[in-house]
Amino acid sequence: MAGQKITLSVVKADVGGYVGHSGMHPQLVSKAKELLEIAKDKQLLKDFHVTSCGDDLELIMTHDRGTESSDVHKLAWDTFLACTEVAKKLGLYGAGQDILKDAFSGNVKGLGPGVAEMEFKERKSEPVLVFMADKTSPGAWNLPLFKMFADPFNTAGLIIDPSMHGGFDFLVLDVKNSREIKLSAPDELYDVLALVGSPARYMIKSVNRRADGEIGAVASTQKLSLIAGRYVGKDDPVLAVRCQSGLPAVGEALEAFSFPHLVEGWMRGSHYGPLMPVSFKNATPRRFDGPPRVIAAGFQLSGGKLVGPVDLFDDPSFDFTRQKANEIADYMRRHGPFEPHRLPPEEMEYTTLPEVLGKLKDRFKKAT
Ligand code: F6R
Ligand code: MG
Ligand code: MG
Repeated sequence: MAGQKITLSVVKADVGGYVGHSGMHPQLVSKAKELLEIAKDKQLLKDFHVTSCGDDLELIMTHDRGTESSDVHKLAWDTFLACTEVAKKLGLYGAGQDILKDAFSGNVKGLGPGVAEMEFKERKSEPVLVFMADKTSPGAWNLPLFKMFADPFNTAGLIIDPSMHGGFDFLVLDVKNSREIKLSAPDELYDVLALVGSPARYMIKSVNRRADGEIGAVASTQKLSLIAGRYVGKDDPVLAVRCQSGLPAVGEALEAFSFPHLVEGWMRGSHYGPLMPVSFKNATPRRFDGPPRVIAAGFQLSGGKLVGPVDLFDDPSFDFTRQKANEIADYMRRHGPFEPHRLPPEEMEYTTLPEVLGKLKDRFKKAT
């Protein structure tokens, strides 16, 4: 029913890959569906959709419990644990990879899974897009989110739709110092870019319309390496975007992915590669464990019911982007272990550098 408050929770985790880190085994998806169906019968959930992108299992759920509901987070956590058991039985790769803690403590944040949640009053018609990426990190959303909500060359509505003309607020997380700041576009456009142009450190968490505070987008911003203090896999992110009627049109949100920009991730979470928008069936990073991929699932919400999904990148108008992405992938690969294909040392998920430097330390002589 329109006007009803609804929460959209997208929670994801890698609990086992098939084969290697490339894809998803159907039994994990069916296990998750089985458990979420029970939760729906018990009216904890209004509706759900389970899918995958690469080796990540994605739970898309609607309910009326608000964001950070411990019941909904526990459901997601228990579902990932049950799927981990299935993954172990099947001998899948990296079973339980993103399950970083032994016990649930009220909220899945900080335990390993990625979360993007928003609560809003459902409009008369409520189009929502869920973007899911594999082999990259949450900073990958900065460029497309900026384009959708702040760049008039992408989003015509910023200029010609009076209800968007006032601009949008960006909540930006400083992931290294665990602090956040709200910046307004277009007034503080250059400040926004000064930060979010550095996506390994500053990540856009959410976007709200300035005129009335209406939520437009929310991203998962967990950094698994910072949570765990060691390499545990790239935190392949999710993003939810509400569209139309004073928010970016579906086509404006999708247009933001027509440029395959370079993102951190790819092989061993340690390389830059182009983000390639693909159809659901092609969400299986293979070449050099990549290139990094993004899928877009489009839904109409109706009284919390998820009508959909539509596979939005399954469209020939993205063929050119994919071709470009493959050219860029090939060009970057030719650099092999050299930067800027390889990430700078502080951003690498795997590194032998401390060991190599340790081994060589006595052989370094003062430069003459
Ligand atoms: C990157 C990723 C893969 C793995 C790579 C090595 O996020 O998941 O590229 O890093 O396949 O994996 P291990 O060390 O598990 O053999
Ligand atoms: Mg994996
Ligand atoms: Mg993954």
